Amino acid sequence: MCGIVGYLGNRDAFPILIKGLKRLEYRGYDSAGIGLIAPSGSLNIYKKTGKVNQLEAYVANQNTAAHIGIGHSRWATHGIPSDSNAHPHTSESGRLAMVHNGIIENYAALKSELLARGHHFASETDSEVLIHLIEEIQQNEGCSLAEAVRLSLSQIIGAYAIVLINKANPTEMVAARKGSPLVIGVGENEFFIGSDASPLIEYTKNVIYLNDLEVAHITQGQLNIKSIDNNVRTPKIQELELKLEAIEKGGYDYFMSKEIHEQPRSIKDCMRGRIYPEQGLVTLGGLKEYSEKLKQAERLVFVACGTSWHAALVGEYLIEDFARTSVEVEYASEFRYRNPIIGEKDIVIAISQSGETADTLAAMTLAKERGATVLGICNVVGSSIPRLSDAGIYTHAGPEIGVASTKAFTAQVTVLTLFALYLSQLKGTLKQGKLIELLTELDHIPELVERCLQLDAGTRFIAEEIKNSRNCIFLGRGTGFPIALEGALKLKEISYIHAEGYPAAEMKHGPIALIDEDMPVVVIATKNSSYDKVISNIQEVKARKGKVIAIVTEGDEEVRKLADFVLEIPNADDTFLPLLASIPLQLLSYHTALLRGCNVDQPRNLAKSVTVE
Ligand code: F6R
Repeated sequence: MCGIVGYLGNRDAFPILIKGLKRLEYRGYDSAGIGLIAPSGSLNIYKKTGKVNQLEAYVANQNTAAHIGIGHSRWATHGIPSDSNAHPHTSESGRLAMVHNGIIENYAALKSELLARGHHFASETDSEVLIHLIEEIQQNEGCSLAEAVRLSLSQIIGAYAIVLINKANPTEMVAARKGSPLVIGVGENEFFIGSDASPLIEYTKNVIYLNDLEVAHITQGQLNIKSIDNNVRTPKIQELELKLEAIEKGGYDYFMSKEIHEQPRSIKDCMRGRIYPEQGLVTLGGLKEYSEKLKQAERLVFVACGTSWHAALVGEYLIEDFARTSVEVEYASEFRYRNPIIGEKDIVIAISQSGETADTLAAMTLAKERGATVLGICNVVGSSIPRLSDAGIYTHAGPEIGVASTKAFTAQVTVLTLFALYLSQLKGTLKQGKLIELLTELDHIPELVERCLQLDAGTRFIAEEIKNSRNCIFLGRGTGFPIALEGALKLKEISYIHAEGYPAAEMKHGPIALIDEDMPVVVIATKNSSYDKVISNIQEVKARKGKVIAIVTEGDEEVRKLADFVLEIPNADDTFLPLLASIPLQLLSYHTALLRGCNVDQPRNLAKSVTVE
C-alpha cells in the first residue's frame, strides 16, 4: 500500500521517479506526488489527486531539474485522496520533505503535542506528523538528519517505509523501514529507492533489502546503515534476478490479461525441479530441514488473507486427504487478535503473494512468539514474509502487477498440491503407484490450463449476459468450494457486482431465498465424487428460475441439459480441479469488468500489497 521511490546521483531524477511511480502504481493510485531539490537549491513539490499520469501532465511545464528527489503513489489511510494529503509532506520550516508508506498509529497524540508547541499542519495525514517530529528533534539535538530520524522512530508506533530529502543538503537522502518494504538499488555513485525492485531494475542489478528497524544514510557514492538502537550494520548487496519483460505488459492490454494467460508457464515454473513423476518423487528443498517435524506434526495451521486464504482452503482439502494431517485455515487478521492455542509442536504456514501483508506478518510474529515453527509460501523473493519464516517455498509465479490475483493464486495452489504430496510421501500415506499417477498428471496440467484459456471467447459471451446483474452466486463442493469463493471475490473486486461463494449444499440454508430470474448462479459441476449432488443443487436453482452458468467436464451432457451456459474444462483427477476451474472464472470476471468499463488492473479502493492492518 503506497509506492515510494527515491533517487540520488548524477542523472536527471524526474524521469526516473515518474517511471518508478508508474511501476509501483499497483500499490496505491488515489494520488501521487514528487519532491525534487533543484540545482538552485529550491525544494519543488508537485502533488495531484488521481493517477501518476495526471501528476505527470500537471508537472509538464514546471521546473523538474534535479539530481535528487522522492516520489509517492498513495492509497489513502488518514485523510481523503486530495492534493494536500498527497505526499511528499514537508517539515515545519519547509526544509525537509518525506514520503511514507505505512501507518503511524500514535500520530494523534504526537500531533497534539506538536500543535501545542506551535507546529502547523497542511494535511490530515499521519505522515506529516512524523516529518515535523524529525525536524524538531534535529533542531533540539543539533544532530545529523539520519540521527534525528533514528531518534524519532523510537517514538513511533506503527509501520513505515520512509525516504527523506533535505533542502539544506542536496546530496543526502535518509531512508528507514519497519513493516513496510524498501529496496535500495546501488549504482555507480548513485542510489535508487523503491518499495520493490521494479523502479530500479533497468539501472542496476545490485540491491539492498533494508531490514526492519534500520536507517540508511545515503550520500553521493556512500551508504551507511544503522539499526534504530544505534548499531552499525553492514549492508548486504544482493543480485536482482527480476527481468524487465516480467514487469511490462508484453502486448496485452492489461496486466490482468497477461497474467491470466501466463498461467501455463507460471505453473510450470512453480513445479520446475520439484517433481520427478517416473520416480513418484516430490522434492521441496526449502523444507528439507523441517521434514521430520512436518512428519510428526499433528496439525498445520495456515494463516493468510483474501485470495491466499482461498488457496489455503484448497490446501486443507488436499493435505487432509493425501497426508492425513489435520489442517486449520485462519484469517491472519482474526488469528493475530484471538489468543489462539499455538505452541512449540505446531507448524504455522503463512501464504502470501506479496510477502508484505501486515496481518499475515503479525500472525507469523505471534506464532513465533509462542514457539511454533513458521513456514512461508510466498511469491515475492526477498520480501518480509520469507525473511520472517523459518523455511519455506517460493511460488515462482513472477511479478504479479494486476491488483486481482490470478497467476499467483494458481501458483499457490500448485505449491500446496506439491506440499500435500510431499507430506504424504514423508508419512507414507499414499501408495507409490498413486504418487506416480498423480505426479504424471500434474506434469501435464500446464497443457490443460492452456486449453482452459481457450474459453476466452465463451466467457466473453457469458459476460455480456451477466454484465448488468447486481448480484451473483458461486457454488461448489469439495475443492470446488474454495474455487467458488475465489470466483466470487474476483468478480466483485474488479466488476463491482456483488458476489458470494457458498458450498453448494449450504444454498438451501439461506442464500436460496435470493434466487430469481435475475440471479446468475455460477456452479462448479465437474465430474467428480459430488457430481450427482451438484446436479441436484442446479435443479434447485432452476426450479427458482435462476440463471445457471456451469463449469463442467468436457463432454458432459447431463448438466448441459439443465444449465443456461456451460464452460467445459478438460477431464482430470479431482486433485487438479482447482487449477483448471479457476481459469474460466478469472476470464469471466475479467470480461465482465471490461464490459462494465472498469479498470481491471487497478480496481477502486484496492491496492496490491496490503501493508496496513
Ligand atoms: C484478491 C487479492 C487479495 C490478496 C490479499 C492477500 O485478488 O489479491 O485478496 O490475496 O490481499 O495478499 P497477499 O497474498 O499478498 O498476502
